[in-house]
Amino acid sequence: MAKTAKTKTAFFCSNCGAQSPKWVGRCPSCGEWNTYTEEVIGRTDRQAWQQGLTFAPEQGKNKPLLIQDIASHALTRLDTGNRELDRVLGGGLVPGSFVLIGGEPGIGKSTLMLQVALQIPGNQKILYVSGEESGQQLKMRAERLGLTPNNCFILTETNLDDIFTQAARLQPDILVADSIQTLSTPVIDASAGSISQIKECAAQLQRYAKESGVSVFVIGHITKDGNLAGPKILEHIVDTVLHFEGDRNYGYRILRSIKNRFGSTNEIGIYEMQGNGLREVENPSEILLSRREEQLSGTAIAATLEGLRPIMVEVQALVSPTAYSVPQRSATGFDLRRLNMLLAVLEKRCGARLNQKDVFLNIAGGLRVDDPAIDLAVIAAVLSSGQDIPLDPKYCFAAEVGLTGEIRPVSRLEQRLAEAEKLGFEQIFVSRYGLKGMKPEFQSKIVPVSTLFELFQKISKLHASVKP
Ligand code: TYD
Ligand code: MG
Repeated sequence: MAKTAKTKTAFFCSNCGAQSPKWVGRCPSCGEWNTYTEEVIGRTDRQAWQQGLTFAPEQGKNKPLLIQDIASHALTRLDTGNRELDRVLGGGLVPGSFVLIGGEPGIGKSTLMLQVALQIPGNQKILYVSGEESGQQLKMRAERLGLTPNNCFILTETNLDDIFTQAARLQPDILVADSIQTLSTPVIDASAGSISQIKECAAQLQRYAKESGVSVFVIGHITKDGNLAGPKILEHIVDTVLHFEGDRNYGYRILRSIKNRFGSTNEIGIYEMQGNGLREVENPSEILLSRREEQLSGTAIAATLEGLRPIMVEVQALVSPTAYSVPQRSATGFDLRRLNMLLAVLEKRCGARLNQKDVFLNIAGGLRVDDPAIDLAVIAAVLSSGQDIPLDPKYCFAAEVGLTGEIRPVSRLEQRLAEAEKLGFEQIFVSRYGLKGMKPEFQSKIVPVSTLFELFQKISKLHASVKP
């Protein structure tokens, strides 16, 4: 587009997308420093573009309707053929919805979407638009995944107008755009990946989704501090924001919903990255628990919830004499401040002498757990390592620990108990409070404890019985 004499520019925050007529050092909106960049905001073609739109015959003729007169499509969710994805979307894909999938580079976003595209049930057509990889590279990846495709069309294109032209010709049910940062529309005179381009492309894709009824997935990259690059704005535009995350050193990946206009944000999908793509993991507890024969001290199993799914995770602790005047504390997959708090409670309420000890804590499997129900397992692992008593592998724990050393009940206890029972745990340590109305079938497995001191005593007693 030729620049006119009066090319208008503005400054945009590359973190949150806020706009300012002049450069500012610190973004008044998100507080980040040095994030403002200048971009051209000439929009001379915009009107022409809007007039030329052919998404829907009714274009520009929308009239107000009584809400009871609007036809309901609530029951027509699409089955994507990927059960974990369907679960996270709230039970299938809503036609005309606009879904953003964010995640760090290399975590497997393209693999996930290509896999969905290749596995889509035969009655649906999917158009996978890639601005990042060539058709050949995608073909190689598809061969690696070893799937027999049904109705997957590939388009390597970054110009949004051309993409819409091809989509209008093909009439797909689902469109995947990989990634939003590579797309550009000629309406905006800025380079691909700039804030104004991302904003405009997202707005056009959203109109396309709403007017044509095609569900659109866009992939978005993430900045190093974990935000979707630039597009805080994107999160407002789209219907659903999914986060694909995991520890690169482990195979597990979690698909989490951050925002969902068509379902709850409590569901998660779990995958395992393998040599031939992402495997759906239906029973996460089994892979996160390392089953071993010999009993080792310093491990305890917690019955936690990830979203609405119960997951048994293994907490490992190492308590060893310190070589320094200030003992070390370190936690992987668990909040370090919470660990410090729990250790302080242990010292004060149980008289455990930890001020001369280093304490290391690790959640097995590279998982990060925020569920407060893991507290009791953390305490048990620390006690077990500190006293060098292996805990019985048939024990598991589910309770929060308060500052006074009281053991507090946690949400959805029955779900946790059911999962623990299913996996063969025989003694489940829970809070004595909040057991009212508990189903009788769980009664025999429950070990109620009310204070840390009680837990300490029970574990010490165990020690006495272990000793010859
Ligand atoms: P990719 O899907 O390209 O990530 P993103 O689009 O999020 O940047 O990630 C691919 C990574 O996953 C790459 O590092 C290799 C690995 N991988 C496997 O381990 N197995 C596979 O079958 C495939 C296709 C990729
Ligand atoms: Mg990619």
